[in-house]
Formats: sequence, structure tokens, C-alpha cells
Amino acid sequence: MTAIDHGFAQDRPSGMLDWLASFRRGMPRTEAPTPGPRTTAAEPLLLDTPVPPGFRSVHQTEEAHEAPRPLSMGAMATPLKPISLRRDSIYNAFSTAMPVTDRHGLAGRNSELEKLVEAIVVQRKHAVIFGTRGSGKTSLARVFGDLADEAGCVALYGSASGDADFDSLFRPFLAELPMSAAGKEKARKLMDEPLDVTRLAALLVEDVRQRSILILDEYDRVRSDDAKSEVATLLKLLTDIHSPVQVVLVGIAGDVDGLIAAHPSLRRHIAPQRVAPISKPELERLLLSCAENARLQLDPDALDALAGAAMGSPYHARLFGMQAALVTEAGGRDRMTLADVEQGLASALDDWAEMSGATHALFRRILWEANASRRMIALAGVAASQMSVISYDRLVRLGQEVLGGGSINEQQAADAMRRLQPALTTMPGGDLFMFEDTLAPQFLLLMAKQPAPAVPPAPTPAEEMRAMLRGVDGL
Ligand SMILES: Nc1ncnc2c1ncn2[C@@H]1O[C@H](COP(=O)(O)OP(=O)(O)OP(=O)(O)O)[C@@H](O)[C@H]1O
Ligand SMILES: [Mg+2]
Repeated sequence: MTAIDHGFAQDRPSGMLDWLASFRRGMPRTEAPTPGPRTTAAEPLLLDTPVPPGFRSVHQTEEAHEAPRPLSMGAMATPLKPISLRRDSIYNAFSTAMPVTDRHGLAGRNSELEKLVEAIVVQRKHAVIFGTRGSGKTSLARVFGDLADEAGCVALYGSASGDADFDSLFRPFLAELPMSAAGKEKARKLMDEPLDVTRLAALLVEDVRQRSILILDEYDRVRSDDAKSEVATLLKLLTDIHSPVQVVLVGIAGDVDGLIAAHPSLRRHIAPQRVAPISKPELERLLLSCAENARLQLDPDALDALAGAAMGSPYHARLFGMQAALVTEAGGRDRMTLADVEQGLASALDDWAEMSGATHALFRRILWEANASRRMIALAGVAASQMSVISYDRLVRLGQEVLGGGSINEQQAADAMRRLQPALTTMPGGDLFMFEDTLAPQFLLLMAKQPAPAVPPAPTPAEEMRAMLRGVDGL
């Protein structure tokens, strides 16, 4: 698959990762037994070669630096802790920074891949790949792109920015599309003119000579309603005129409507692909493989605790696994224990609290204040990790199924929703909500499992400022 540099991804972390990942297209693919995807001419790697996350054993490549090797700190007045290459291999093996690009490293997504191939390659539908942050959307889209390449299509991958308009979304693909000579000439002329839906649709239908799939990642970032409605129109036009080009939109959303305002007549031609939680056995397989690459063993109860805390998210599984592995390494051991996992989960929570101070402070406060609704707040976290979206009705129903009890659930569900409100964002339609930070539910559950503190949590900076303002204009 060819990664397209949209040239505007540098301003945010995940866009940056995709931008970095785009340099991988020139890397040799020694592990895949099947023919590799058609790519553009190999480019020089501008960065240190990143180790792709995956199931491949990295033993061979790391043989040269088997033992931890302290770096020279002689020049420093007080020697720092030596930089251990063992830690380095833990970071690489459990990395949360790189999407999976190798199908052998993609855990638990066979049925999603089969459905995407059937819908896009065979039935020629467009597709929308959606899910929470870190659920593995980019990984799924990229591995699908490689499969599509092997099936004889040309898959092109790009990612969107918040201020993108229709032109900047699609123009970067033009140079890579397999077009006739006349098409290339038309595309060259379009370089000096704005790209609109009709012209692009005509070009794609008349001049593209090979089945092509345009994968547009981070589509949730696009703010312009005009751009989104033009994209919907393009999809409709391409369908109506049997274009050889299909579009795959990828982004954070609870459902298709969260990404694209699709007209009912377009809906039939779009395959929705939710990136759902991964089953616990598959997460365990992923963790075992990461541990093997870091040359660690896992106690069965440690593995169970890690996969359980991740609640279906490959991102959290890797993050928690990495933190626990660092604890094992710091203890000079090769086998991860349950105690290492507990300590690792606590460090992961501390790191998240640093980054997401406001949400952490809210969770801490509402868990302290909630009393009877505490279990319902925790259940909201579990529900969000499994279904992405939550609502009062869902919580009531789940409360009855999971916690038992009668009308008390209704009050608790209403209370839990009210308390969580500042951390939630409303979905189109108004009744369903997602956590604004879609990585938060796993941390909410970790917090709910901690014993309630005896004293109230310290006030947040906002609460402290509100206290300072007391007395001003009736505050
Ligand atoms: N099926 C999987 N098997 C193994 N690892 C996975 C899988 N899916 C995702 N990961 C890992 O989880 C992390 C997040 O994956 P990815 O970047 O694909 O998620 P995403 O949904 O695109 O995230 P974002 O919402 O930030 O764009 C990466 O480290 C990736 O390697
Ligand atoms: Mg992504």
C-alpha cells in the first residue's frame, strides 16, 4: 500500500505517527510470505528504523546486544541510572506508538478483514471504519490496504487534518492514482485549479485504469461541514457511475453518522466497520507475543490481570504490559508477576493522570462522592469500553443484567450519567454519549477498583480558583 503524505499531519501526535509510519513504505518486508504490496519507489529512511509492533520474533535482530549494556556516563558529575538496552527492547516490543502494518502482527481482526475485503474489493462498496481512540482503526485500515494491493487493487493511504477542505483531502492522491496518459494530463491541469466534486468524480471514473482504494484516516478531525457533505456527494456519484475507485473513511466515532452525514440512498453503498474490542484470549496472545519479543515470561495470573484491565483495547494491553514489564526489568527478573502488573497499572494510571488532569480529577471526585452510584459509574466505564457509546437507558438495562436489583438502578444510572457528564460528549441525535477522552474508561475502572480514600480528594485548580472568587458578585 502506498502512503500519501498529505503534508499537514505534523501538528498533532497521532497524525505525526502516521506521517512517521508513511516512511516505512520503503522498508524491506522480510516477514510476509505473500508477495508484498505495490509501492512507489523505495525512499531513503529519514529516521531510525522503527521496530513495528507485531508477532515477529525480534530475537535475531537483537542478538548483537544480548546483555544490558551501560552507556558511558563518565562525563557526568553524578552518574545516572545506566540506560539498559533491555528496557529499550521492552519499549519496542510493547510500543503503543506505531500502528500495526504487518498482518501477522494484527491480533483478533480476521473477521473484520474478511468483511472489508468482501465489501470493498468484491462488492465495490465504500466503507467507514470507526471506533474509539486506540482501538486499532489505523492498524486495520493499513493491513486491509495491503490485502487489497495483493488482490490487484491500488490502495493509497492518507490522513486528514482539522482544517482540511475537499481539495486538500483528495489532491494528494492524484499523483499516485494509476491513470491513463490523458488522465495524467488532466490531473496536471487540475493542479492550478480548485478540485471540486464533479471534476474529481469525472477524472476517477474516466481515467483511472485500475481498481483503486483511497483510505482517508483521521477523518473525524475534519471540521468543515462543507467538506464532509462534498465527500458524501463524491461517494454517491462514484457509486452511481460505477467508478473503479472506492473510498474508505477512518476515524473516531461511535457509529457511521459520527463520521459521515450519509444520505439514505448512500447508506446502502457504505459498509460500516466498527473496530470492536478484541476478545480476551486474543489480547492474551498479543501480550504473550510482546513479552516474548522482550524476552520476558508472564505468570498466568499476571497475564489474566493485564488482559482483563485492557477491556478489549490493544492500545491499553500494550501500555499496561509495557509498564508492568518495566517493573519486572527494574527488579532484575525475567518473569512478570501479578505484583509487577499491579505496580505497572498504578504507573500507567499516574502517567494518564499527568496527561489528563481534568478528567482524572473529575473521576476521583465523583468516585469519592458517589457512594451508592460508584458501581454504576464503574459499569459506565465498562460499557463504554465495550460499546463505545453509553446512555441512561443502556445503563439501566445493564444495571439490571449485571448488578441485579430493581428501581434503584434507575436512580443510580441517572446519578452516574449526571456525575460523568463533564467527561462525556453528545453523539448526533442527542441520547447517546461517548467519553470525550475515549482512552478514559479503562482508567476509570482502575480508579474505581482502588479503595475509596478516607479523606476527600484535594480540590482541583478550578475548584481552588472558584473558592478564591467567593464573594465576587454573589459568587
Ligand atoms: N489488532 C491489533 N493487534 C495488535 N496490536 C494492535 C492491534 N490494533 C492496534 N494495535 C496497537 O494498538 C495501538 C493503537 O493502534 P492504532 O494506531 O491502529 O489505533 P487507532 O484506533 O488508529 O488510534 P487513533 O484513534 O489514535 O488513531 C498501536 O500500538 C497498535 O500497534
Ligand atoms: Mg489511527
